[in-house]
Amino acid sequence: MNTSALKQHPFFISCPRNLEPLLLAELRELGIEGGNAEYLGVTVPLSQEDVYRVVYGSRLASRVLRPLGSFECYSSEELYSNAYAFNWSQLIQFGQTFKITATVSDSGITHSHYAALKLKDAIVDSLRDQYGERPNVDRDDPDIRIDLFLRRDQATISLYYSNGVLHRRGYRKQAVEAPIKENLAAALLRFSGWDKKQKLYDFFCGSGTLLLEAAMMATNTPAGFFRDVQGFETLPDFDAEVWEKVKSEMDSQIVPLPQDLIFGSDIDAKSIAAFRTNLLETPFADSIHLERSDFNQLKGPFEDAVVVTNPPYGVRLEQGEDAILHKLYESFGRFLKTQCPGGKACMVIPDEGLEKEIWFKPAKRLFFDNGGLEVHASLYTIRKDG
Ligand SMILES: C[S@@+](CC[C@H](N)C(=O)[O-])C[C@H]1O[C@@H](n2cnc3c(N)ncnc32)[C@H](O)[C@@H]1O
Repeated sequence: MNTSALKQHPFFISCPRNLEPLLLAELRELGIEGGNAEYLGVTVPLSQEDVYRVVYGSRLASRVLRPLGSFECYSSEELYSNAYAFNWSQLIQFGQTFKITATVSDSGITHSHYAALKLKDAIVDSLRDQYGERPNVDRDDPDIRIDLFLRRDQATISLYYSNGVLHRRGYRKQAVEAPIKENLAAALLRFSGWDKKQKLYDFFCGSGTLLLEAAMMATNTPAGFFRDVQGFETLPDFDAEVWEKVKSEMDSQIVPLPQDLIFGSDIDAKSIAAFRTNLLETPFADSIHLERSDFNQLKGPFEDAVVVTNPPYGVRLEQGEDAILHKLYESFGRFLKTQCPGGKACMVIPDEGLEKEIWFKPAKRLFFDNGGLEVHASLYTIRKDG
């Protein structure tokens, strides 16, 4: 191994809001020491080997970024001149394509799209002046991804080591309405305390995100296992030998999925069909039990089980739909109490009103954003004696 692979650099690993402590705990399990949980992510020094382990192994991270530089930035001229001065040819080789993402808040520059455009102009002009030819932007499959984070007039430009956002695992070929993001699903499984040996149920499984994440966890399948590319392969510092070592070490931990561990059901035939399609992308097709059913029709008891689920919720509900939703949560509360004694349930709940229908008091709650809505997950302990 090349010794530069051991040298550490500061990284920012982003994640959804309120998942920062869970991400830090996950990084420890991946063998990463140090680092601090901050707003929307963890700042941590990583070696090349660590970076590959995090990109390939983290189930909770959204993006893995290496900050290239920070500067005060009150105007688009300042953004352009600071970015132009950077040595881009060190990062973007002749003929490579790139893409910019930008987030802007509380700053003189108010539009992220405009900020991204200014940064793109600076990079294009700087490289054209060095190479004599302008590089191309590729929005879908760039070689290099650059991120701009502008907050309170402080700009940070970073280089992606992940292939865009990490919640794209590569197994989702068909989605249904309102699928949960894969990294949120993984966070809920961790939050539920599921030990990977207890039977796990999702009675509103939709396209199966929670259960596919559970299967990956139970089998030690790395989060990036089904992805065609990880994102760091086109970077100038890519070290194929180190990547090969990390991948073979992590892949060697994979074990088969036990039968009778993971169960899913959903009332909707299209959702079950989408789940089956997604399952075929994985080796779990014969081991996850799947049934099309209204939860009310299921015959328990499902004793000592862990239920992790994301029931339907509505945004801008039509008249009457709100009452239907309340009824559904109320019946599901009764179902948990009567059919799942001695177990635990972790449920995504869109608002306090619906939570009241469940009867039990949650032991813990985790607030997060799901598809632009603030929701929370509640964790219930279901007593055997009702
Ligand atoms: C928010 S979606 C779940 C999405 C899923 N977590 C995913 O990632 O694809 C809610 C699901 O509940 C299902 N559903 C609604 N009413 C149901 C009922 N009475 N019994 C079982 N499933 C139901 C819907 O068909 C839908 O797939």
